[in-house]
Amino acid sequence: MKSFNGSARDLVNGRNGEISRELFVNKDIYQEEQEQVFARAWLYVGHESQVRNPGDFFVSKMGEESVILVRDRESRLHVFLNTCRHRGMKVCRYDEGNTRNFICPYHGWSFSTDGRLVGVQDYQAAYQPPFDRDQWGLVEVAQLAVRHGTVWATWDRNAPSFDEYLGDARHALDTGLCAWDGGDGETELLGSVQKWIIPSNWKFVAENFAGDVLHAISHRSVDMVGIGPNASEGRRDNPGRLVIVAHEGGHGFVYGIKPPDPERTDYSESAITAAYFKECWQRRLKRQGDRAGVSPLVGTVFPNMSFHGQQPRTIVVAHPRGPTQTEMWRVYFVDRAAPEEVKRYLRSYYMRYSGPAGMTEQDDMENWNYASAASEGTIARRYPYHYKAGLGAAEPSDLIAGMVTNAPVTSEQNPRELYRRWAQFMDSADWDSLRGGASR
Ligand code: FES
Ligand SMILES: [Fe+2]
Repeated sequence: MKSFNGSARDLVNGRNGEISRELFVNKDIYQEEQEQVFARAWLYVGHESQVRNPGDFFVSKMGEESVILVRDRESRLHVFLNTCRHRGMKVCRYDEGNTRNFICPYHGWSFSTDGRLVGVQDYQAAYQPPFDRDQWGLVEVAQLAVRHGTVWATWDRNAPSFDEYLGDARHALDTGLCAWDGGDGETELLGSVQKWIIPSNWKFVAENFAGDVLHAISHRSVDMVGIGPNASEGRRDNPGRLVIVAHEGGHGFVYGIKPPDPERTDYSESAITAAYFKECWQRRLKRQGDRAGVSPLVGTVFPNMSFHGQQPRTIVVAHPRGPTQTEMWRVYFVDRAAPEEVKRYLRSYYMRYSGPAGMTEQDDMENWNYASAASEGTIARRYPYHYKAGLGAAEPSDLIAGMVTNAPVTSEQNPRELYRRWAQFMDSADWDSLRGGASR
């Protein structure tokens, strides 16, 4: 049902870098994007390591909705809407666990881990003629994909494959999730998910991680204190030369590019961690040569999954909860093969960097929350936001596909491209026009 009657393109002027504040505060636009964006795009659901064994489940979110990621008895993965088909009760009220069936507490219907309705109270006595239980199983996503352990899904059966949806951002995701510091790509989560709520629109988060390089000034105090692994100033070790890349499809990344120098001085604060990553780096150099040092530092896969590919290695998902409310979920990754001491060291480094108690995330939240509140007023809404940095500065590159802006040219191209894509989703009725819209 269409609740927003205007054209999203009128609110997003990518050419001159002006974007309406309505995107961040308007409840009709918010309602419409649940339908046009979150019910159609590929969304991050979880990580395979959260559901290793048959019967393991992890309750996640897709947009506003609760979903269950579960491994059935045949070891196949599924993602189901977490709502009973009888009268809507949440069939799973735990965050994670292992089960043979999901039993609804309301009237006792039970569902197997492959989603079938297998038990109905008083089925023989109460339902004459009997109803067809096969028609009343849990609602399942239309498509599911796994990439380097991450699990993704879409409600839209007409959506392109996840591979096509990612396009050239594939490399960013692959490298960021498994290969930068790591050796063989096998990762696992550190602990469980950190969850918290912030009073601001989800897009503040998405654009920030897509490549809002100018906001680094917010972290100046953290840089001065020095929380990084190099035992001196800064938040992280030197990431190399920065390159800002907008891939087609609204996905934006900031890459760090390091020369293929076999010497590496990262993690000097912890000798065992330094030695581990040096070994990984040398293996990587052998495998990839000059390309070994090309890796995303931070980025967003449209619409709301963001990650840091190195220092820290973490995923953050900005789940929408309202025009000015977002539920943040963060998880941290380490190489499964890393020594325990390295994992312990990384745990404390990652926690002091990101998440609700992390020092850089606190800086960011302060900005998003106040900006959101200060944009809600009738007068404030009349004035668009300014995204003009680096207009026209992008150039082709042989190293990375996409719109590439080399630092030190500071550019807001990635947020501009994210909103251009957002407007296409909002205005397009079908994937034919969305596919065409991927080109500029
Ligand atoms: S709502 Fe689930 S059994 Fe009635
Ligand atoms: Fe930040």
